Amino acid sequence: GGREPPRHFLELMDLEPATLRRMLDLAVQAKRGAVAGKPLAGKTVALIFEKPSTRTRVSFEVGIRQLGGDAIVLSAKEMQLGRGETPADTAKVLSRYVDAIMLRTDSVAKLRELAAHATVPVINGLTDVSHPCQLMADVMTFEEHRGPIAGQVVAWSGDGNNVARTFIQAAARFGFTLRLATPAPLRPPQALVDWARAQGARIELTDDPAEAVRGARCVVTDTWVSMSDEPTSNRHNLLAPYRVDAALMAKAAPDAIFMHCLPAHRGEEVTAEVIDGPQSVVFDEAENRLHAQKGVLLWALGLA
Ligand code: CP
Ligand code: NVA
Repeated sequence: GGREPPRHFLELMDLEPATLRRMLDLAVQAKRGAVAGKPLAGKTVALIFEKPSTRTRVSFEVGIRQLGGDAIVLSAKEMQLGRGETPADTAKVLSRYVDAIMLRTDSVAKLRELAAHATVPVINGLTDVSHPCQLMADVMTFEEHRGPIAGQVVAWSGDGNNVARTFIQAAARFGFTLRLATPAPLRPPQALVDWARAQGARIELTDDPAEAVRGARCVVTDTWVSMSDEPTSNRHNLLAPYRVDAALMAKAAPDAIFMHCLPAHRGEEVTAEVIDGPQSVVFDEAENRLHAQKGVLLWALGLA
């Protein structure tokens, strides 16, 4: 006994606002080149992917190397995990080899099982219901462009998916107002909204994108078909009115920024005019995955 539990990064709701703010401060330092030396020297991080990835995969691998550590990228289908070895046994084995584990999975239950049995930190690299690394980068990006996010209004128009649900958690943890416009069948779970409101968050739900974006400093959307979804024409019909186009952006604050976690589908959830236009900060947002995850890693490994 006596050993401290590992510092898992599973859900924003599990972590204190001050802890998350500390990670973001580290991220800003990392971006400025103010993280000295090679703090991850001698450390190895396993990056496990059950689903495709460009940003998460490359930003974690590059970030770990830049901090002096080693990354091992693993495709779940090439692991025994992909043919029935339990997340619990995988966690116990990998904990003997590596210093931290990142998992991208289509089932949050697998992430939770992995974390429950790992003796090293486990990082959520996206599940069917959450994407906290993305939100760390998103908050960092908003603040770079528009200053402190607390008290600001952020609008979401589209599917109430894993990223939308993590925006709800982030609103509670970072103190911004979140207005979500989603079709009623694709609303985030009421229990999550109730949790955020009980934390003091201002979460407003509507089915009207114009109402959501009115005066907002940031407009956000995401794909209509997430990796855990079956693509159906019904989703497209439901979501077409939520497309972010220039007319919708014009209803937001004049200096509103546009964010999208990427990958994007021009002409579906967002028009090319908006995502490739002057209000879009999507490539800063993608870059900030690299810096934000350095903050998460330094905290998780107890190095800062
Ligand atoms: N935004 C994001 O997580 O992108 P990838 O799926 O490419 O990792
Ligand atoms: N909502 C998307 C995000 C991809 C980074 C998905 O889960 O596929």
